[in-house]
Amino acid sequence: MTLLSIKDLKSSFITRDGMVRAVNKVSLDVFENETLGLVGESGCGKTVLALSILRLLSENTVVEGEIIYKEQDLIKLGEKEMRNIRGREIAQIFQNPLSSLNPVLTIGLQVSEPFMLHRGMKLAEAWKNAISMLRAAKIPSPTERGKEYPHQFSGGMRQRAMISMGLACSPELIIADEPTKGLDVTIQAQIIELMRELVNDRGASMLIITHDLAVASELCNRIAVMYSGEIVEISGIKDFFSSPAHPYCKSFLSSLPLNGMKPISGSSPSLIDVPEGCRFHPRCEYAYERCRTEHPEIYTLEKGRNVRCFLYA
Ligand SMILES: Nc1ncnc2c1ncn2[C@@H]1O[C@H](COP(=O)(O)OP(=O)(O)OP(=O)(O)O)[C@@H](O)[C@H]1O
Ligand code: SF4
Ligand SMILES: [Mg+2]
Repeated sequence: MTLLSIKDLKSSFITRDGMVRAVNKVSLDVFENETLGLVGESGCGKTVLALSILRLLSENTVVEGEIIYKEQDLIKLGEKEMRNIRGREIAQIFQNPLSSLNPVLTIGLQVSEPFMLHRGMKLAEAWKNAISMLRAAKIPSPTERGKEYPHQFSGGMRQRAMISMGLACSPELIIADEPTKGLDVTIQAQIIELMRELVNDRGASMLIITHDLAVASELCNRIAVMYSGEIVEISGIKDFFSSPAHPYCKSFLSSLPLNGMKPISGSSPSLIDVPEGCRFHPRCEYAYERCRTEHPEIYTLEKGRNVRCFLYA
């Protein structure tokens, strides 16, 4: 069953230099009980896509298309309805918890907030639930540590606190944007394991943005790859790693240390001035005449595999 269905989403920023077309005609479904990975090089539009779903983009943005969640189009919802969805139904876990946590409130109080706001609990009951949540996120001595402030927590513990906050109201969908960025490798592995446990236990779905394909391979059922504001491939995780279909994905996998670190030549195009034809054509070793003039649509390679490339037309 589909939980979230994004159709032809376009998110553009109006800037002094022109329109930045950060997300271009993206269509993507997130199914119930699945973890979908979203990967792609820096600046390709992953965060803008996540913020578009949560309606957290700045004023200078034009968003078009549909984001259907439980038969309602999130793009059309009023701010009040959207506030109810955020946190209660769709949770966000972003990188750098220090900037998301309030420095002058204790961790326990901050994790209590969603229980009060979305579940109508009084402080004492919310606090009890918050401490259980911190315990579930494996924060040691949660009763004592709940009384501490964010600066008294290590980076890993802060991210655990953020995860507790995100999962407090048992959301159906979790959107995690590079949740382990900036943490030590061992801590990263622990956080990923924790997220896997908590998400599976609660039967939630997750859209996780990551640079790290190892994380994607461990956590995700399916993977969506973005290039220059567009989705270029959606595949099951095993198919993707054993036989990536899109030329960009083939190069992307070859650029990993495990596969010899062959870098992809050239750089990704500016999102203000995208190349005509296939956006990847200046860097694609398979490019032919049609690729320089026509823009490929998404083709279905087989059930569950979609690729934006003329080689599969
Ligand atoms: N508020 C904004 N105004 C103008 N342009 C923006 C704004 N926010 C993002 N962009 C541009 O949109 C594009 C996509 O940015 P985005 O943050 O989504 O990339 P990303 O894929 O998340 O990259 P990273 O992996 O580095 O986090 C970039 O070119 C970025 O400069
Ligand atoms: S459409 Fe052409 S340029 Fe684009 S990825 Fe496919 S082969 Fe390469
Ligand atoms: Mg980002």
